[in-house]
Amino acid sequence: LPEDIFGERLNSAGIDLSDPLVLGPLQARLSELAQQSWSAEPTFPSDEPGEIAPITSPQDTRIEVGTRRDTTPAEVEDAITRAMAIQPGWDALGGEKRALLLEEAADLFEDHAPEFLSLCQREAGKTLLDAVLELREAVDFLRFYAGEARRQFSQPMPLPGPTGEENTLSLHGRGVFATISPWNFPLAIFIGMASAALAAGNTVVTKPAEQTPLIAALAVKLCHQAGIPPEALQLLPGAGEVGQAITSDPRIAGVAFTGSTETARLINQALAAREGPIATLIAETGGQNAMIVDSSALPEQVVRDVVASSFQSAGQRCSALRVLYLQDDIADEMLEMIRGGFEALTVGDPADLATDVGPVIDPDAQAALERHVARRQQNDRTVWRLDLDGSTANGCFVAPTIIELDSILDLRRENFGPVLHVVRYASENLGQVIADINATGYGLTLGLHSRIAATRKFVQARAKVGNFYVNRNQIGAIVESQPFGGEALSGTGPKAGGPHYLARFATERVTCIDT
Ligand code: NAD
Ligand code: ALA
Repeated sequence: LPEDIFGERLNSAGIDLSDPLVLGPLQARLSELAQQSWSAEPTFPSDEPGEIAPITSPQDTRIEVGTRRDTTPAEVEDAITRAMAIQPGWDALGGEKRALLLEEAADLFEDHAPEFLSLCQREAGKTLLDAVLELREAVDFLRFYAGEARRQFSQPMPLPGPTGEENTLSLHGRGVFATISPWNFPLAIFIGMASAALAAGNTVVTKPAEQTPLIAALAVKLCHQAGIPPEALQLLPGAGEVGQAITSDPRIAGVAFTGSTETARLINQALAAREGPIATLIAETGGQNAMIVDSSALPEQVVRDVVASSFQSAGQRCSALRVLYLQDDIADEMLEMIRGGFEALTVGDPADLATDVGPVIDPDAQAALERHVARRQQNDRTVWRLDLDGSTANGCFVAPTIIELDSILDLRRENFGPVLHVVRYASENLGQVIADINATGYGLTLGLHSRIAATRKFVQARAKVGNFYVNRNQIGAIVESQPFGGEALSGTGPKAGGPHYLARFATERVTCIDT
């Protein structure tokens, strides 16, 4: 085959866990790293430091993985001053040089794979498979945005004009961008937003989720080792208050946020209330994601894809399946088959290779999911709930659960964990099913299992969602192949890992020279 069969850029190869020569040494290294303690602090700490908080493992909350030093308001102020000062130079570097630095960072991330995998497991409770996929996506984001910087930010674009007039359009960073990230992709989304802002010529102050600052601290350290100046990429650990301090500073030119819809609204309000320039907000938020399965679907494929979409990553993907619509004449048979796949799930220690479902992120998330299941049990039919064994007693585990509902509209909010809801529908009501899904107001992912082309076209024409997946699972979008992001309550766009993403971080300048 020709070498360029995949175009100019190949996605990261990841790590082949099925190869014993890879897995054996990797597991030995992960055992060593399980003893290591980590820390996260502001990139430029002051003499009057903020509070120190322990970071505990969701798998066993008695285990301390490291500590987070919170950023004070004075440190936020100082960080933005430093980022402002260096931004013109960073922008003037141009797309090619910024791309080389991001590519160097991608190589360093791959070199430090065991450390990242260990932290994904211990700090975020990810299984080894999820941790490998997370690292791959992070590396893909770095290389993809480097390529986009080279493509869009290296040379001004020539524009038409009459003889004697030279017109060009060039893209530049907007200034200092804030990136604020969630805990569920503590590496990929964290570095994806920061690297996009950097690639476009902005300097970045970045606040990781309070639950997962240690992975972020390692990522920032490696970016600095790659040659990105510390003033251009500054880590500001802390809870939501640190995010509030950043977004209320009038010098921030834009915010890239991924997290809940509620927090996106608060950030929007904070930006609107400030003095200074009108800031850009890129927000990627929650979902109420459905999958529709009709009687033409292949049952074995459905089982595989429903189980993966609902329970992989303990259901803690924004893309995860929350409401499964089953055509009524196959519903009983399909549910029995899904039960087979569901009951084969192993819940437990993410370090154990046999584990399919690890813990949820923290005791608050665990309690909220338990409240949801208890409430639904009063109104609806709990179809099945797995039993948890004693090994999960000290962690934030939630037993995978399947609940039958009358309608997706019975759910008022996103339930971010291993809980799948099932609704039966009659084929003549497919239009109403899609109207109900749209009526949730969210628009992130939608799955469809159907062999009927007319059904696919019918659904595609009506569903208001960002990512529509047919005859497969609905998680794990690949950078560049499936640019990812929703609409309405699910986000502002443009899509992460897509061709239009960087432009939103940039400002356009036109030069007209009369020669
Ligand atoms: P969250 O909204 O609670 O927190 C996200 C980040 O915002 C954290 O860093 C938090 O400290 C910060 N924050 C909180 N209050 C703030 C404020 N007032 N001002 C500024 N920053 C503030 O979300 P989470 O629980 O960390 O993440 C889970 C959510 O993220 C889910 O809703 C999920 O669907 C969503 N998500 C969406 C995508 C996507 O691409 N659409 C991807 C991953 C996660
Ligand atoms: N990009 C992540 C997925 O598709 C959220 O699962």
